[in-house]
Amino acid sequence: MSVLEEIIHSDPILILTGAGISKESGLSTFRDPDGIWAKYRIEDVATPEAFQTNPKRVLDFYNVRRSQMNNPLIKPNKAHTALAELEAFWPGGVLLVSQNIDDLHERGGSKKIIHMHGELSKSRCNNCDEITYFQDNLSPESKCDHCGFIGSIRPNVVWFGEMPLHMELILSELGLCRLFLSIGTSGNVYPAAGFVQEARQNGAFTVELNLEKSEVGSYFHESHYGPATDLVPEFVGKLRDLL
Ligand code: APR
Repeated sequence: MSVLEEIIHSDPILILTGAGISKESGLSTFRDPDGIWAKYRIEDVATPEAFQTNPKRVLDFYNVRRSQMNNPLIKPNKAHTALAELEAFWPGGVLLVSQNIDDLHERGGSKKIIHMHGELSKSRCNNCDEITYFQDNLSPESKCDHCGFIGSIRPNVVWFGEMPLHMELILSELGLCRLFLSIGTSGNVYPAAGFVQEARQNGAFTVELNLEKSEVGSYFHESHYGPATDLVPEFVGKLRDLL
């Protein structure tokens, strides 16, 4: 019997996703040869210091990514929808922790989602901390609807050097999950890259689904390599067969 078959219906599942799960929907990853960090320097567009020195460049970087995300041609793919189906049928509960700031998991039907690196569809005011949904562009002249401040609005996205969101909840869920599934992430950025070891130490069965072996690939009990739209529906089917 494969270890996966020892997973029982009441066992909670924690899923970590990265940019690879959105690649087949048409959104770029970060570290693939055609990725975002091949076109932009992190220190120019994704740090608090960058926002201090050149807010327009940072805001324009996220304006471009938001308009890409809102392009009607960009849709959730079979990997997103398979995870939503898993959440709907798995009795033990499924928590989706995503490093992605796009909204494809929501649009794919997932409900229990933690965006540990924030969300492109939300802004935050540096003056009053108000977080609001918005769809258009941000500029240094943008005004906070809550406190009226001008120039204090930033994307509600976690930058390098900042603490990811909801870490306490994520770590407690990592202690409870019996299956840890990592999808479409290179394992380059901590703390997310350390989740597999955390889950494994707490007794979870750990599986990596990725196009290629990630930086932390050797920590997983089981790995499958290929496109997410093939691997994820197939793996979700295996879990459905356990019921
Ligand atoms: N199916 C599955 N995996 C894929 C696919 C695909 N179709 N295409 C690419 N991948 C894999 C790549 O092989 C790579 O291992 O997805 C991974 C993407 O890795 P990164 O580009 O590093 O993205 P990610 O791991 O999400 O980055 C983590 O780094 O820059 C920060 O905040 C940013 O959240 C991001 C974090």
